[in-house]
Formats: sequence, structure tokens, C-alpha cells
Amino acid sequence: MTSAELPAPYGAGAGTTPAPPAASPTGRIRIHHLQQAKENGTRFAMLTAYDQYAAQVFDEAGIEVLLIGDSAANNVLGHATTLPITLDEMILFSRAVSTAARRALVVADLPFGSYEVSPQQAVESSVRLLKEGLVHAVKMEGGAEYAGTVRALVRAGIPVMAHIGFTPQSEHALGGYRVQGRGDASQRIVDDAVALADAGAFCILMEMVPSRTADAVEAAVRVPTIGIGAGPGTTGQVLVWQDMAGLRGGRQARFVKQYADVRTVLTDAARAYADDVRAGTFPGPEHSF
Ligand code: KIV
Repeated sequence: MTSAELPAPYGAGAGTTPAPPAASPTGRIRIHHLQQAKENGTRFAMLTAYDQYAAQVFDEAGIEVLLIGDSAANNVLGHATTLPITLDEMILFSRAVSTAARRALVVADLPFGSYEVSPQQAVESSVRLLKEGLVHAVKMEGGAEYAGTVRALVRAGIPVMAHIGFTPQSEHALGGYRVQGRGDASQRIVDDAVALADAGAFCILMEMVPSRTADAVEAAVRVPTIGIGAGPGTTGQVLVWQDMAGLRGGRQARFVKQYADVRTVLTDAARAYADDVRAGTFPGPEHSF
């Protein structure tokens, strides 16, 4: 049976929407399914997840790729940047997501400080993410200067998603959250993507780059691309789940679309619970032994 004959799970692809990548016979999305999406002109969705219930919900909703982003630093641990999160913390979150997700391809970020020193350090850190965090691939920030590191990872049998454009781990070097690859700087983003794809990255993720730059990358590389703040022309899209579902309060980045208001739902639930407790109406007889 070819993968093209496999049914799209979870009822996705009904109607006129092109079918998303089919899973393997074991039901798992693999990196070659993302490659097929690019070749077939279909798109796929990626969301961050850091715990078992979010992973289960998104997996069952048909999200093709789950990312244990180092954005767990901001979105779970309360740090101001992604820099403080450690490899051990990433492994903990990765294990929770990997154990819960039955269909999605699960990818974890190499956190700041876990890969920059040498290709050997990157391989050692990635081996831990696959062996202890049980993920299927790693994501690594950085441009063409990391092509050698990508080669070393691929040689070790570790699939690599390359993250270029705005790279949050370099936010101090880049002077804050700024769009990258505008004007003349566009060619550098394309060159980075080509070098990383040639080194063996299975996918190129671009953050906060102009749509025209992202389109040039999508055209220049054979592998699929994923965008966040990179316009509609990439093969896939990714959002941080707390932004997508409206759990995080405050101002959202321009590239975020909020699909729910989970913060209000939780606030209302917590207030209703506290009111019941104060009024003595919870627990009722049906909740008591
Ligand atoms: O860590 C993360 O969540 C990410 C996404 C923004 C792509 O890298």
C-alpha cells in the first residue's frame, strides 16, 4: 500500500480542502509525509505542546507536527526569554508530549547552550532528546554557520528542522524581536536556507520574515518550509498554542490568530468554583462519599 492510498485520519481533508499529509501504516506522521506535502502542494499544521493533555488534544485534532518549543521558558516557566530553559527541562516536557501523541511527528528544540559549542555537543544533546525525551526530531536555531552541525546530526541519524529568520535565542544579539530578511537582507535568509537544506535539514522553519523572503526560500529549497510570521506561502504554519487558543493575556504579535478565548473560559470556571465553595454548594451530595 502506498502512503497516497492511506486515508487521512480524523476526517481531515473532507470537502474541497486538499488532503493533508497521510500518516504511515502505523498511523505516525513521518518526515517523508511532510516532504510529500511540499511535493503535492498541500499544507500541514504544527503547534507547540508542553504537556500530555495539550499534546493529546492537538494530536486528536489532526495537527501533524507537535513542537516542544523552548518557548516553554516563556509560556510555562514564566521567564522573559527562551534563554534560561535547560536541556533537562526540555527533556521533561518532551517526554510528556511524546508519550501522549500517537500520530503527530514530535519535534523538540535544542535549547540555548546545548549545541553551539561544537557538532559533538549538538549530537550529545540531541541524543538525549531522542533517547530520554522520546522525540522524533530536533529543531535548531541558526543559519549557514550551523551547516556542519546539521551534517553531524544527520550523520548520527537525527532528523533536523532548521530555524532561521528571527531566532529568539539570539534576541539580545539581534536587538530584540525584529523582522529579519527585509530588503537586501532577504538573500542572506535564502542562502541560510539553501545551506541548511543542502546539509540535510528535513525542513526549514522561518520566523518573522517578510512574505516575499519566505516565498523565495520556499522556491529555493526542495524541502518543506514552515512559517510563523512568514506569510501564507510556506508548506506549513506553526503557532504557540497559548497564543492560538488565547490562554496568554496581553498584546499578541501581529502574526498570531487567536482561535479561542481559553483564558476567559478558565477564569469563569475558577470564579464559579470559588463562588460554589464560598456558598457551601460544592461539594454536593453527588460529590461526597
Ligand atoms: O519555541 C518555539 O515555540 C518556537 C516556535 C515559535 C517556532 O520555536
